[in-house]
Amino acid sequence: MNIFKDPERIYLDHNATTPLSIAVREATSEWLNDWGNASSIHWTGRGPKNVLRQARKQLAQSINCHPLELIFTSGGSESNNLALKGLYFHRLFSEFAEKRNHILISAVEHPSVTQVAQFLSRMGAEVDVIPVDREGQIDLEFYESHLSEQTSIVSVMYANNETGTIFPIEKMVKMAHAVGAHFHCDAVQSLGKAVVDVKKWGVDSASFSGHKFYSLKGAGALYVKKGVALEPLIHGGAQERRRRAGTENILAIHAFGEVSKSLELVDQKAGLVRDLRNHLEARILDEMDHVKVTAKESKRLGNTSSLVLEGVDGETLLMNLDMKGVSVSTGAACSSGSPEPSPVLLAMGLSRAEAQSSLRLSLGWENTKEEIDRFVDILKEVVVRLRRISSEVKDVQ
Ligand SMILES: Cc1ncc(COP(=O)(O)O)c(C=O)c1O
Repeated sequence: MNIFKDPERIYLDHNATTPLSIAVREATSEWLNDWGNASSIHWTGRGPKNVLRQARKQLAQSINCHPLELIFTSGGSESNNLALKGLYFHRLFSEFAEKRNHILISAVEHPSVTQVAQFLSRMGAEVDVIPVDREGQIDLEFYESHLSEQTSIVSVMYANNETGTIFPIEKMVKMAHAVGAHFHCDAVQSLGKAVVDVKKWGVDSASFSGHKFYSLKGAGALYVKKGVALEPLIHGGAQERRRRAGTENILAIHAFGEVSKSLELVDQKAGLVRDLRNHLEARILDEMDHVKVTAKESKRLGNTSSLVLEGVDGETLLMNLDMKGVSVSTGAACSSGSPEPSPVLLAMGLSRAEAQSSLRLSLGWENTKEEIDRFVDILKEVVVRLRRISSEVKDVQ
């Protein structure tokens, strides 16, 4: 897959969003010929209906499920909302209501899971949060001791968007199933970074997002295992087998289906990206002082590196790197702009100062060794300058 690239800049923020696949970029105007409504019986509906069918088939093949087990949504946040609220509300009206009211989530979930859990707790759910350790690893003893016949839903991500830590999903699914709980997995950070096999994982539902894998914003998907019933978030027409009403975003779904074809290369591509990330970390640790890699000893996504750069303010560093044409992040993209340190890093036991000195680098398929080397040179220069300024300010004070 060829991916859009600005030769003047270095993009290292792929966990926030990815650049576009060039094939998608070039095909969109032609794809707009399918402007019809997929529900129309006349000719204008036939093209879009076919696009939906093809895209569903392609994505299903890439993540190993049946096409009818996929619901197209607007993205990862909607998929997480649909899974958790949809299940909870469905169960409110079923025999589960009296018996099961307990939800378990990890302490490092994305806000589209944590905020839903908080909302559901206001609706009467009992929510427990599974702690993680300094390496970002889940406390399996806490998990086991809090799973019970009351547990309705467990929601744990495949991999963390800030540190890349990968969770032992298969093991956790077995434990949840042993007490009859539903296991939802936010797998938004998995596409293109790891081999995704929802059947092997054993999860009951899983969220995906097209813009995290070189596609357009506006299309995501929720895998829901056959037989699992959900209340829709959006009531209305019969689209998506009555689980998500509304005329479909055919263009973004078309793109999502097209890029999913490239997922067959994921093993090879993710390996190359891992080598680059390891080269990046090795150079930084060798050539810079007072830098730590967060969760370095954990099983991590090969593209992600979360650094603590002592004595440097993350936001200031981000802005200085931006001025040099480098895009990085200090935490989840949706929380940047907020002066609060990342809740994920705090949950892992980092101090506020460490969290505020953190930088997240997330690489993609199109990054090169030359870019990584150029980036490390820029980072070294900027960090030395910022540390000097901050020590001069301290001297004056
Ligand atoms: C782990 C995780 N879940 C969910 C989302 C939300 O996805 P979207 O931006 O498609 O709504 C993100 C986005 O950053 C994410 O990283």
